[in-house]
Amino acid sequence: MKSPAPIDPRGLADVLAPFGHSRMLPRSAYVSDEVLAWERANFFDAGWVCAGRVSDLEIGGDQKAMKVGDTGVLFTRDGGGTLHAFANICRHRGHELLACGASTNRGVIQCPYHAWSYELDGSLRLAPRFGDVPNFSPDHMGLVRVRHEIWGGWIFVNASGDAGPLADVIAGFDDVCAPYELDRLGSVARHEYVLAANWKLPQENYHECYHCPLIHPELCAVSEANSGDNYSHTSGAWVGGTMDLEPHAETMSLGGASGGVVFRALDAVQRRKIVYVGLFPNLLVSLHPDYVLTHRIEPLTPSSTLIECSWLFPPEAAATPGFDPSYAVDFWDLTNRQDWSAVESVQRGMTSPHYMPGLLSSQEDAVYQFVTMVARGYIGEPVTSAPLH
Ligand code: FES
Ligand code: FE
Repeated sequence: MKSPAPIDPRGLADVLAPFGHSRMLPRSAYVSDEVLAWERANFFDAGWVCAGRVSDLEIGGDQKAMKVGDTGVLFTRDGGGTLHAFANICRHRGHELLACGASTNRGVIQCPYHAWSYELDGSLRLAPRFGDVPNFSPDHMGLVRVRHEIWGGWIFVNASGDAGPLADVIAGFDDVCAPYELDRLGSVARHEYVLAANWKLPQENYHECYHCPLIHPELCAVSEANSGDNYSHTSGAWVGGTMDLEPHAETMSLGGASGGVVFRALDAVQRRKIVYVGLFPNLLVSLHPDYVLTHRIEPLTPSSTLIECSWLFPPEAAATPGFDPSYAVDFWDLTNRQDWSAVESVQRGMTSPHYMPGLLSSQEDAVYQFVTMVARGYIGEPVTSAPLH
């Protein structure tokens, strides 16, 4: 069994108490370098991490490098259209093949150090002046593959290579998403935010609208804070719920008007709801009647987090003359910033020695599901959601 997280087990027992009696995670879960190192190894490298949209590598020759947990990964699209994922490490002496965060389009992968080159499928193409090196076998010097899967138009990476199937993580959520036909959606806007808060705080915040009346007047004008229900399920590694649109609102926007096109396969009930789901550990998916907003979350330090938001629309919306996604982008950019301000304040509060893990209200049941999922992972149990007690 993997080693448990370096957190006082008594604090985790309090988290795992029945709903209504439990407390939030201990302070060290939000401020400790050791805990974040454990999370990177056990939640990110050993889990299924969303690494972005597959459409970011659309054309043969596209290459993109990024950090997934502790692992640098190089994605490529070969000339035949196949997507590959490799450890972003040259087989000569370990230089990164492409700088982390960079993208390019080239017919080969070339190491910038001594010019070894690789085909887009990872096989070694040329190692200059290695012809006379004994025991050098080009066939065994290809790039190291990293396990990945594609679902819903996203790339998911399991850097350790030994997680269970991705299907176990998304079990049940794939049914919720089916009418939105995620594969065919295009990302038409993207924002990056760097928050001075631990990576779990925006997720805890996302899973409740108890805070909405005070900090989100614009959101409450189009969706009542107490509306909707949370999912109670026993499989998958996701937590979420729904909220209802006010009668006058077509979608979540400033004023409630839509500038897009309703997803073609939604029924009458789905057209009046927003679905909010967090897929563990790093993807929040908000399904609206006419667009999908995603938050992809990368921990930077215990107290700082990168969040990449994407607004996804169906092709028929993007093809509409004069289409302008700003009705969705502006609404959520404003709402995001209201949330970031709140969670950054929570992070500052947690640095105080007087901080004690708090209790949860009946409106915070999805927060309970999220933190119990985290706490079960900390003690070495499978990270799956569980029904409320
Ligand atoms: Fe890449 Fe030397 S480390 S060519
Ligand atoms: Fe909020």
